[in-house]
Amino acid sequence: MPRTIQEETIHLILDKETKISKKLPVFYNPVMKLNRDISVLLLSALNKESMNILLPLAASGIRGMRFLKELPPKSIKQIHFNDYIESYKQKLKKQLKKNNLEKNKKITISNKDANLFLLENRGADYIDIDPFGPPIAFLDTAIKALSRDGILAVTATDTGALAGTFPTTCKRKYWATPLRNELMHEIGLRILIRRVQLIGTAYDKALLPILSYAKDHYTRVFFLCKKGKQQCDTLISNHTTFQNAGPLWTGNLSDQKLLKKMCKIAKQNKEFLSLLLAESQINTIGFYDTHKIVKKEKLKDIPRTEEIFKALTQKKFKASRTHFSQYGIKTTASEKEFISLLKNLLKKKKI
Ligand SMILES: C[S@@+](CC[C@H](N)C(=O)[O-])C[C@H]1O[C@@H](n2cnc3c(N)ncnc32)[C@H](O)[C@@H]1O
Repeated sequence: MPRTIQEETIHLILDKETKISKKLPVFYNPVMKLNRDISVLLLSALNKESMNILLPLAASGIRGMRFLKELPPKSIKQIHFNDYIESYKQKLKKQLKKNNLEKNKKITISNKDANLFLLENRGADYIDIDPFGPPIAFLDTAIKALSRDGILAVTATDTGALAGTFPTTCKRKYWATPLRNELMHEIGLRILIRRVQLIGTAYDKALLPILSYAKDHYTRVFFLCKKGKQQCDTLISNHTTFQNAGPLWTGNLSDQKLLKKMCKIAKQNKEFLSLLLAESQINTIGFYDTHKIVKKEKLKDIPRTEEIFKALTQKKFKASRTHFSQYGIKTTASEKEFISLLKNLLKKKKI
């Protein structure tokens, strides 16, 4: 007997043999709920009207169905679901019916290779590239299909390459050298951003990250598409090397104004979004891992995080925790200044 599960506004029918687990990336992956929550929230915050949405790798259709149910009706003009799995039209229709969406005129369904689908559909205001593995194979056609001011959402689950377990794969796929230390997820995210941007600039499309994060087994970036040679040249001037890693994107990872709005309207994931907002106010690459520094400097104790923040702000440095690491502090202080501040705090405590 098939079973039904619920994610927010959507009921999904799963075959009886479908196990819901982390190992189920293809049809429905519950671990990606936050990924979908944030997509819905971002589009709510942007408050666009009459969007033409392309979902080339739509799988169960849950993301698109959530857009239809959770965004105001005026937001979507058309929404295209595509996946190359066998009998996709029937499979998706079953899910649409379950959610009373089978008669919705905004929906089209196709059962093609994603690249073919993207080449046949231009003028997109939102495209979601959410494969299992690297997104590279779909970026060229997705960027071609993207309109001025359109949003391109990209997920990469090949963390092994981007976060430095497989540096040769990273070089081959992303044309950059990763890092294998506490900064690996941030560096991986910045490498991914640059790679996507390079494809965009080839078409005079400047893809500016408006929201980026790393979570669980994946990295995720939303790009805003601006058109123009000059915008592309400015973008590329932010591609450099950092600590022998890269080239990578050195600009902002997220747009503060957008994140503020998302935090304001969010009904869930507030803690995560607030953290992204806090760190978006500090445009530095990387962060300091307090545990690692204490060990390296052979300090006898770790000052309390609140004390570190107080001391940094007293010295007029900006500082925030980071979603990339439990022990990480992002700050405008240099490493030397940060270490000296830690030592002073311990001296005061006579440690
Ligand atoms: C990770 S799932 C997508 C999850 C979905 N976007 C969601 O939010 O739940 C990836 C999907 O891409 C499909 N896929 C992979 N390569 C494809 C290709 N070349 N053309 C079309 N579909 C493809 C797979 O069949 C799978 O359903």
